[in-house]
Amino acid sequence: MCGIIGYIGQKEANSILIDGLKRMEYRGYDSAGVAVLDNGTIFSLKRIGKVAELARAQTKFPHRGPIGIGHTRWATHGNVSERNAHPHLSDDGRFAVVHNGIIENYLQIKAFLIERNYRFASDTDTEILANLIDYHYQKAPHLHFAEIVRKTLLHVEGTYGIAIISKIFADELVVARKGSPLLIGLGEGENIVASDAAAVARYTKRVVYLNDGEVASVRSDNFSITTLHENAVDVVCHELDWEIHDTDLADYPHYMLKEIFEQPSVIENAMRGRFTADGCSAKFGGISLIPRELRMVDRLLFCACGTAYHACLVGKYLIEKYARIPVDVEYASEFRYRNAPPQRNTLVFVVSQSGETIDTLAALHEAKRRGYMVLGITNVVGSTIARATDAGIYQHAGLEMGVASTKAFTSQITILSMLALLFARIRDMDAIVGLQYVQALKSLPIIASDVLKLSEQIRIIAEKYYGYERFLFLGRQAMYPIALEGALKLKEIAYVHAEAFPTAEMKHGPIALISEETICIFIATQNELLDKTMNNIQEVKARGGKVIAIVNNNCIAWEIFCDEVLIIPEVHPGINPITSVIPLQFLAYYIGILRGCDVDRPRNLAKSVTVE
Ligand code: M6R
Repeated sequence: MCGIIGYIGQKEANSILIDGLKRMEYRGYDSAGVAVLDNGTIFSLKRIGKVAELARAQTKFPHRGPIGIGHTRWATHGNVSERNAHPHLSDDGRFAVVHNGIIENYLQIKAFLIERNYRFASDTDTEILANLIDYHYQKAPHLHFAEIVRKTLLHVEGTYGIAIISKIFADELVVARKGSPLLIGLGEGENIVASDAAAVARYTKRVVYLNDGEVASVRSDNFSITTLHENAVDVVCHELDWEIHDTDLADYPHYMLKEIFEQPSVIENAMRGRFTADGCSAKFGGISLIPRELRMVDRLLFCACGTAYHACLVGKYLIEKYARIPVDVEYASEFRYRNAPPQRNTLVFVVSQSGETIDTLAALHEAKRRGYMVLGITNVVGSTIARATDAGIYQHAGLEMGVASTKAFTSQITILSMLALLFARIRDMDAIVGLQYVQALKSLPIIASDVLKLSEQIRIIAEKYYGYERFLFLGRQAMYPIALEGALKLKEIAYVHAEAFPTAEMKHGPIALISEETICIFIATQNELLDKTMNNIQEVKARGGKVIAIVNNNCIAWEIFCDEVLIIPEVHPGINPITSVIPLQFLAYYIGILRGCDVDRPRNLAKSVTVE
């Protein structure tokens, strides 16, 4: 959602702020702004629309100070306008604030401040922070900057990641966090604060993540962190595990396409060093449980949102099939508020690419509150979810810039397939079967590369069907979540109404939607029940619907009954979902492009959803 950047050092802050905002564009936003302290005055510049607009306006913004803050806003309180864009300055311009999150008691605070003659220029909840900080400064001007901010935040309810500069404290920047990510990138003679490591990766790989309830005072050559109540904090420095070229497009027109093509190496990274020496099982350094403890587990519960939720559903099919452990999968947003009955010997997994999704984080806390052990599968090292879980597995997929998750999904299902193998091997699966499973996994990067070769064929199919408005995705067993994921991709990238069902469910209602205007995409890559799927295809054809089938072999029946056939290699069922999703990612991408959509930054969407 919103992005925060702040700079303090020897260089001109402005260009670093703009660069940082550009690197956070992938998160989704509707306006952007910067504020720079220059010769004792804070100057701000804001624009609605793209950061490029802001950058263009910089020609008339000649402020070269070495301290500043910037923001990309995703509107919550107040419409999309320059006056609502951040940074917000206090009434007399002493303080400037950028903020992610929602201040829940802002109306009470606003009324309190209006009574004390503070004026407001925006409709946002954020502006009250600037004025409330000023109010506390006026009450006790002898206090340090961070102390004033701490006192202010004691009166604030809600969530925030904030960065503040002041003309009174010209060599300091203060940041604080509660429920919205913030980190300090440690440079040489300069420090950069941000809500996203992508914004600092160009300057440093050493970062310190703030925890909830912490306030940091950041200067060009040092920083200090305390809690809101002034308790000392153990500072842990993390090394970022991605390269700056992760944020570049290379020769691709879009991040989404780049990330689809990165999948063979992403799958390889997810598996690297994670097979046992005998080659018959998987192992994860991050999971601290020993086999005896893992055998005690009677049930697994997965919580996640969006694409990560679909990955968990794939995991359910694979784990139940191979390891024979019952698995429940819940939307994190439901689990956090639902009074689910407690279950014995249950291990909880939360899965999140960003590691910052608010609902998944809340589900994690709820599970821990109930006394469950919670493990995480996340892509972002040091993210909030990674730090809050008892232990976990990193995806090592590299930074995912496209708002639509592609490579993170295949990386998650690769890890979940390996988890199925790990649990199976300490229960029912013998070494020979384990060996075959491992060999299948090891062959996966090459097979995924073969599937990528379908790109052009899928582009041609997209050209035929991109004008249609109704798509149904159908799959059985582990292909059902793949159908869900295909439909989600098409919705978010191409703004086409798409739904997914288990194939046999079609007859129980959705068949009423079938007409010449309907495209049905059958994911028919599992060997079981293919005859029944063929019956379903004929039911669609009998009603005039169009059929695109993803299959493993070129049997004549597919050619006869389907309008389009995409053949992908036949693989072990433990990796089948991974290869089957790639054509659907391409399809969504090409249809999105043909419909003129901004596939990397789809409307209304944010890369990580950090507010409810
Ligand atoms: O970062 P997370 O994996 O927790 O994000 C969860 C969802 O918000 C995310 O997968 C979303 O559905 C994507 N837009 C899917 O492409």
